[in-house]
Amino acid sequence: MSEDLLRIAMPKGRIYKKAAALFREAGFDLPEDLDDSRKLIIPVPELRMEFIMAKPVDVPTYVEYGVTDLGIVGKDVLVEDNRDVYELLDLGIARCRMSVIGLPDWKPTLHPRVATKYPVVASKYFRERGQQVEVIKLNGSIELAPLIGLADRIVDMVETGTTLRENGLVEMEKMFDITSRLIANRVSYRMKSEAVQSLCDRLSAAIAVRA
Ligand code: PRP
Repeated sequence: MSEDLLRIAMPKGRIYKKAAALFREAGFDLPEDLDDSRKLIIPVPELRMEFIMAKPVDVPTYVEYGVTDLGIVGKDVLVEDNRDVYELLDLGIARCRMSVIGLPDWKPTLHPRVATKYPVVASKYFRERGQQVEVIKLNGSIELAPLIGLADRIVDMVETGTTLRENGLVEMEKMFDITSRLIANRVSYRMKSEAVQSLCDRLSAAIAVRA
């Protein structure tokens, strides 16, 4: 990778548009067609940047292995995956929370089961509270689990609360707040410090204007 070119892993999906908006507010003139493109590698030579469109859970992997210098990813993924990367900046976007969720008439059961996309987060949470639960890993539509009897509770992200409301579920305990973070590869952080610092400064200024 060239010395001053920054390769950045962008999460496809719900975070992407918010991250792109923040970059634009920070004065990085991202091409409009980047938003709807199916291309996975998008060079923006005039900014000395190259964007990799990644599945959000894979962003820390690309950054840890140094195939991208930087990445944007939710705190939920960072806590679950615990990769060896630097967390540089709280971007304050894609704000939501991790919560324990259940049916309104939930009662403790003898063999409690918790379904989640975040088995590490969920296991640690219940272990720390001295509660024995069986954690079942699912990959999406987690809210189905208590509705069809796979688990009595779930651990999942709540953003607007619409999914819960539409499925008759309630938030029982909030676990922690989530926002998207800018992360860096440890070597890139040192070798490309000037470009990384300049990007951080401009993003920080844009975040401050929003606050
Ligand atoms: C996430 C999360 C919840 C929902 C929360 O799912 O797992 O289901 O969004 O958002 P809300 O509070 O605004 O309704 P996502 O849309 O990422 O899809 P998934 O079910 O495949 O995980």
